[in-house]
Amino acid sequence: MRGVAFLLAIAVAGLAGCADDRREERLRAAGENPDLTALLRVADASAGRRQFGRCAACHTIAAGGPNLAGPNLSGIYGKRFATGNQRFGYTAALRASGQAGRRWDAAALDAWLANPQAIVPGTSMRFAGIPDPLDRADIIALLQES
Ligand code: HEC
Repeated sequence: MRGVAFLLAIAVAGLAGCADDRREERLRAAGENPDLTALLRVADASAGRRQFGRCAACHTIAAGGPNLAGPNLSGIYGKRFATGNQRFGYTAALRASGQAGRRWDAAALDAWLANPQAIVPGTSMRFAGIPDPLDRADIIALLQES
């Protein structure tokens, strides 16, 4: 009986660990008050893929995927703003930022995912933003490899 309870406890712990993507463990490893660089060291692209559910109403991420309300995001990391997909009709605001030389590096993506309107006023990406810095880092890790 004790053995069964023990196995059950392991199963429950395992499930909980999976559901929260080892957040606590990863945050501990990132150290106290982690900055973006520290968070990216512990970021997990597969957790980012689950987080991508928040984007999927408007974006696909597989190479060659369609544009929806937003552009396909395959290969976006490192590109200039508003150059992710040539068939997408970007706003003048996002195009102007791209023409000014801004690129989708980790810092730009972090700011964008926290609050798109704050870094590109007038963008048509209607998105409340992701307040949690580790969730943002996980999505950035996904974008880096997609
Ligand atoms: C409600 C729809 C919507 C949601 C949800 C959304 N986006 Fe967007 N996204 C857009 C639109 C529309 C644009 C184009 C904005 C413009 O032209 O100003 C865009 C643009 C972008 C760009 C810039 C692409 C380029 O080529 O420069 C990135 C990066 C991006 N989104 C990432 C995300 C991520 C990651 C998420 C989820 C965390 C997300 N978006 C959620 C609609 C959305």
